[in-house]
Amino acid sequence: MKSQKAKPKIYVRKARSSDREAVFKFCEKTWSWGDYIPKVWDKWLREKNGRVFVATINGVPVGISHLSMDKPHEVWLSAARTDPNYRRIGVATAITKKCLEYAKRKGAKIARLVTESDNTAAQTMLQKLGFKPIAEFAETVTENVTEEKSKNSKWARENETEAIWNYLQTSETYLKAAGLYTVLFHWFSLEKQDLKRFVEQRKAIVHKNKKGEVNGLLLIEDATAREWHKNTMQTCYIDGDYDAVLDMIKFLKSQCYDLGVKRIYGFTCNHKPVTTALEKLDFKPPDSIEIVYERKI
Ligand SMILES: CC(C)(COP(=O)(O)OP(=O)(O)OC[C@H]1O[C@@H](n2cnc3c(N)ncnc32)[C@H](O)[C@@H]1OP(=O)(O)O)[C@@H](O)C(=O)NCCC(=O)NCCS
Repeated sequence: MKSQKAKPKIYVRKARSSDREAVFKFCEKTWSWGDYIPKVWDKWLREKNGRVFVATINGVPVGISHLSMDKPHEVWLSAARTDPNYRRIGVATAITKKCLEYAKRKGAKIARLVTESDNTAAQTMLQKLGFKPIAEFAETVTENVTEEKSKNSKWARENETEAIWNYLQTSETYLKAAGLYTVLFHWFSLEKQDLKRFVEQRKAIVHKNKKGEVNGLLLIEDATAREWHKNTMQTCYIDGDYDAVLDMIKFLKSQCYDLGVKRIYGFTCNHKPVTTALEKLDFKPPDSIEIVYERKI
């Protein structure tokens, strides 16, 4: 039975650097391994397109959440944390509402975030706030970075961008992925200008069929090497049937082998032809699935 005690008043405000100690303290045991908040706190407080909100009760910080305005129309929410001693009294709900209000004022039309399939607390809270699950993703990983022979995959050229974009418009995977790609644990809408950037930066691998038509796409990033572990790479988006994906991953593995990359994080939409191809090439599947939620604001 729920407590009948009067709920304490919750205030939500912009985080200050003086909140640091209290926040780090209640985040100490968020997960069995701890939390990443101390690693990103200083950076987040300096961000121009981001903001950390803090909830206080009697002046003491009891919860946080972070947002970043990725594109003028979309906001990404992350790091909802409530002090374990103050849970189930509306702290995270109050902070999330504040984040949505703030983002709306800044012009955002869509809010998104990710949570793990086994996080019932977060999912129940999100659904109460009107968020809907829109896509599932899997973070697979391999340290078996080998030289492989691929047949029909190569780095996409700038003059192929239009053909790739047209391919995406009728792709089942793009639809299933809700048109999103990942960098680290952050999902963005994959628009034409993003595709163009990946191609220009030589971070897009394309697969073609016998007729020379595009039938597969793989986008990559080395942000994991900067932010997580050196000598790593991640896939941001994978699209194609089993054979196309297998061939593109072989191409990627060989490129990584030449570059001395030791680990590849295979982020993908949870789509069978793609996940099966990754497993075939020794990518370890995750224990839980990432679910991206979305809400119009
Ligand atoms: C998820 C989390 C942020 C929720 O914080 P909170 O301040 O307790 O959430 P709220 O009090 O606003 O909860 C709102 C509603 O969500 C649901 N909810 C929250 N925690 C729940 C739980 N443990 N089990 C089931 N439902 C839960 C309830 O429906 C709740 O309303 P109710 O208490 O009136 O029934 C908190 O549990 C937490 O810090 N967890 C660890 C970090 C984490 O998982 N972050 C989310 C990453 S996406």
